[in-house]
Amino acid sequence: MQGRKTIRNSLTLLTALSFLALTNVQCRHDGLNVSALKPVCFDTEIAPIFLNKCATCHGQGDNRGGLRLNDYTTILKSVIPFNAQKSKAYLAITGKGFTQLMPPDGALSENERILIRVWIDQGAKNTVCYTPPSVDTTGNGGGGSTFGGSGSQVCFQRDILPVLLSSCGTKGCHDQTTHAEGYTITSYSSVMTKLVKAGSPNTSRLYTSIANNSMPRGSIAKLTQAVKDSVYNWIKNGAIDGTCASACDTTGVVTYAKQISSLVNRNCISCHSGASAQKGILLDSYANIKTYMDNGKLMAAVKGTSIPMPQGYKITDCEMRQLELWVANGLIQN
Ligand code: HEC
Ligand code: HEC
Repeated sequence: MQGRKTIRNSLTLLTALSFLALTNVQCRHDGLNVSALKPVCFDTEIAPIFLNKCATCHGQGDNRGGLRLNDYTTILKSVIPFNAQKSKAYLAITGKGFTQLMPPDGALSENERILIRVWIDQGAKNTVCYTPPSVDTTGNGGGGSTFGGSGSQVCFQRDILPVLLSSCGTKGCHDQTTHAEGYTITSYSSVMTKLVKAGSPNTSRLYTSIANNSMPRGSIAKLTQAVKDSVYNWIKNGAIDGTCASACDTTGVVTYAKQISSLVNRNCISCHSGASAQKGILLDSYANIKTYMDNGKLMAAVKGTSIPMPQGYKITDCEMRQLELWVANGLIQN
């Protein structure tokens, strides 16, 4: 709810600002009283723009022009708080003072430029607006911003790590104890040590080995094309350790199609699909998952009250919440 309100407010703000911006393009001091405007949030409004639109070239791996813009500290090096017109990061996106407009492959939208400008002129603060979803027994969602939505951006912690844990960091493979062939795949830092070259999927063993299906091996299912593409895009975009916490989607009605199918795909199908499915338990379709929801086994397993699932780690609180809301709603399919 908080999230929706924020979005509505910032839309109003943007409409007002677009007008001001259009009528005052030429003025250095256009009399915009930014302190009277609602504070722009760094975490939900500004960070996503830099991460998605700049960090590809100005990130951990690729730092063109010797510049990094992939977190608050690095972004602040290109910003003079309260003075957008003198801030490199703002000048670059408006094409002033630099030979090339940034990003070079297409200007930011007007809304994005205005948001960055207002954020800087308000002091470029590290504001955190995301509030974790609150418990909402109606099943109609519990807040959190909707940034990131479904699928628009790949975030390591939300989209990649669960797949790696359930498909690679498993017992006897790349977990802490076995670390087959010297590779441990259980956390961001362990993956980054040897297997990923940020910005370059085709020279990253993590990607090449899943792309040609040499991994995963044994009884663990091969990864789907969608997962391969996510890993590719994540590496290509700088292999950032993103959380997408603000995109944990428990708003609206939780359905199989919208949230549950991808949750199970991330965490379970590596061992529960195809001919080698563990204990013959298939979790690869609505009907099959419903069977294990109806008999209580799935919830008991993820809650750890029976044999804990997935193996070696736990699903996130948000994912647990989605499952609970799904049960509360009556396991809606679409
Ligand atoms: C496709 C790659 C790419 C993307 C995306 C990109 N940049 Fe750049 N950026 C570059 C390159 C290359 C340079 C170096 C240009 C040069 O030295 O002439 C550069 C230079 C800069 C500089 C000047 C650094 C200096 O001190 O001279 C700034 C500021 C900058 N970029 C900001 C941004 C911002 C802000 C974004 C996102 C809105 C962004 N860039 C997105 C490639 C990119
Ligand atoms: C790395 C492989 C692996 C992953 C990932 C995995 N499972 Fe399992 N699962 C197993 C194995 C092995 C068993 C059989 C355990 C046993 O009987 O000792 C099992 C058994 C189960 C059972 C039966 C438990 C019981 O009480 O008999 C359920 C239900 C289950 N898994 C659900 C899930 C769900 C839901 C997920 C994802 C959130 C998941 N599993 C992820 C390997 C896995």
